[in-house]
Amino acid sequence: MAVIGTNILKAVDILNQGDLVGVPTETVYGLAGNALNVSAVARIFEVKQRPSFDPLIVHLPNLNHLESVVSEIPQTAMNLALELWPGPLTLVLPRNEVIPDLVTSGLDTVAVRVPNHPLVLELLGRLDFPLACPSANPFGYVSPTLAEHVNQQLGEDILYILDGGACSIGIESTIVGFDGEQPIIYRPGGIDIDRIKEIAGNVIVKTKSSRPITPGMLDSHYSPGKTLLLGDISNFIQTIDVRNVGILSFRDTFPGVPDSRQIQLTSDGDLSQAAKNLFASLRKLDAMDIRYIFAEPVPNHGLGIAINDRLARASTKSITLP
Ligand code: TXA
Ligand code: MG
Repeated sequence: MAVIGTNILKAVDILNQGDLVGVPTETVYGLAGNALNVSAVARIFEVKQRPSFDPLIVHLPNLNHLESVVSEIPQTAMNLALELWPGPLTLVLPRNEVIPDLVTSGLDTVAVRVPNHPLVLELLGRLDFPLACPSANPFGYVSPTLAEHVNQQLGEDILYILDGGACSIGIESTIVGFDGEQPIIYRPGGIDIDRIKEIAGNVIVKTKSSRPITPGMLDSHYSPGKTLLLGDISNFIQTIDVRNVGILSFRDTFPGVPDSRQIQLTSDGDLSQAAKNLFASLRKLDAMDIRYIFAEPVPNHGLGIAINDRLARASTKSITLP
């Protein structure tokens, strides 16, 4: 298993040697390596069992470093970065030649962000390269929001995990690309779309695609191992044998299923709290001795849009009932 701690210099050493470290961000934990070192980047794909067509996000210490990795910055992108970095916003911009092909899966754009967590910002400040840093989960599984989650799944493959506590946002960054000055949302996330609109004007939302541009757009992603049914929980309870069931609700409890198998995302309807609890709750339910997870959409505004996106991707589209 990896060592979990708060020794930034140890993380710096490991990264300088071309190895990988688990790092906290405000969104989810990441699996970080030197973005300019092809063998470190290759190791990220290997450890995550991630297909090479799924490009990585490059993490920078601050906005001043943006020009060193991209070749062009639309004014709208600059306005978003000025307002929202450090923070859960990823910009997809034309890349320059320092970024290895492997990072971008051969695309001529690179995804970049400045994360907002004191430990990873201090770490980035002590390195002379940016970090390639996807979420620290095996490809297709629920993202980690605690150091312990990273250790459970990738602990055999990495030496060290920086422990920054529970992620304050709990859901991945919002990904925004550009067609000229026109912003296009590829993945709803920790910055809500209304905030992007306030800064950037009207946006195009392009999060579903049969030929995904970004695998965050794959229909089935963020999946727990259990069968997750998304819809009206009361309805599910009436049609499926509830002995095998756990519940993930927005705020209500349901009769007929023991409290120990019910998790509420929030006590008072707060969507930030729901986002923060989402992935850890899916993991808890996944570890229970149950067969199905009944879940319901949350109110579809603000952060709720990103939460519902993750729930839909975690859900099973059709099942055969026993
Ligand atoms: O909040 C986050 O963004 C977290 C933390 C660790 O920073 N990172 C994260 O990385 O979610 P990952 O690898 O799990 O998701 C990155 C997403 C993928 O869906 C990928 O396809 C997309 O970013 N992406 C990367 N480069 C892209 C590009 N050039 N064009 C479009 N999408 C891109
Ligand atoms: Mg991910």
